[in-house]
Amino acid sequence: MPVNSNKKKLTFIDLFAGIGGIRLGFESAGFESVFANDFDPKASETYKANFGDSIDTSNIKDVIKDGMGKIPKKFDVLAAGFPCQPFSIAGHRLGFADKERGNLLFAVIEILRTRKPKAVFLENVKNLQKHDDEKTYKRIEEEMRGAGYTIKAEVLNSMHYGNVPQARERIYIVGFQTPRALMKFHFPESQLLTKSVLGLLEKSVDERFYYNEEDEFIYPKLKKDVKSRERVYQYRRIYVRENKNGVCPTLTASMGMGGHNVPIIKDHKGIRKLTMRECARLQGFPESFILPSHLSDTSIYKQIGNSVTVPVIAKIAENIRVALES
Ligand SMILES: C[S@@+](CC[C@H](N)C(=O)[O-])C[C@H]1O[C@@H](n2cnc3c(N)ncnc32)[C@H](O)[C@@H]1O
Repeated sequence: MPVNSNKKKLTFIDLFAGIGGIRLGFESAGFESVFANDFDPKASETYKANFGDSIDTSNIKDVIKDGMGKIPKKFDVLAAGFPCQPFSIAGHRLGFADKERGNLLFAVIEILRTRKPKAVFLENVKNLQKHDDEKTYKRIEEEMRGAGYTIKAEVLNSMHYGNVPQARERIYIVGFQTPRALMKFHFPESQLLTKSVLGLLEKSVDERFYYNEEDEFIYPKLKKDVKSRERVYQYRRIYVRENKNGVCPTLTASMGMGGHNVPIIKDHKGIRKLTMRECARLQGFPESFILPSHLSDTSIYKQIGNSVTVPVIAKIAENIRVALES
């Protein structure tokens, strides 16, 4: 639905903003960003390169401790892709007991209680729903209710909801202050996947992305197992995994570090990692999105793996806007 340009735009704040994937989705659905925060200096560089000098880089806990002066008094939606490590199966599963990260959700709750925006949008790993016998999710529901929000949640796979060839299941939690808005809100319908990994590969790729004899340990394994040009592979510590469904497995923050988890393909020249630009395409980022060349490959891979699938966010944000405006 086209955004009515005469209407005042709905506003949002972007917490744990990373490189701004959630912002891109909300902006394309007609929202205006009024505040962003992330304390990672490298992700913030990418954010600034794309959105101007508009991100606060303090620890969000300090922003709250200092009385929230930096956070606008009024905005319509609080959006937060809060750190997922405490809830993911890959992590150590401490959940709320993880003092450093798990309790960041309480920072979100605190801001909701104080600023009372009309809606809240959260993104996290799928496992959040089942973590600790669903106690974690129930606690989130309770805390939200206490702050004045009722929520709906759904796990969506990017390959079915964002038309990107990446299997990425994430939980999306949407809450509203009024039951009417909650009733009007629907998660998006699934759509046909029309894009393929082959279709988004770069034409010319730098030599550094290719494996060769110098990669003594990994190369023999790759040469043996990476056979098809139609598939995506992943090197997982000691073995090579083939993704049979032809889409790329979930891009993770640990991609690019020590060869672990990087999606690998075979092309006309040899066996190589997907480039950072290809990974950004797999997350549905526009071509115009700047990946700063002075940052290390590892850092950019991490930022993209940590981010979101932009078209999925855009669709949910669009439905939030409709629910708030109707
Ligand atoms: C899963 S990533 C979110 C990525 C983001 N949605 C995007 O599109 O790039 C979580 C982010 O939370 C940030 N973060 C973690 N703890 C924080 C804190 N205490 N204060 C501010 N930011 C924090 C991390 O730096 C990281 O970029």
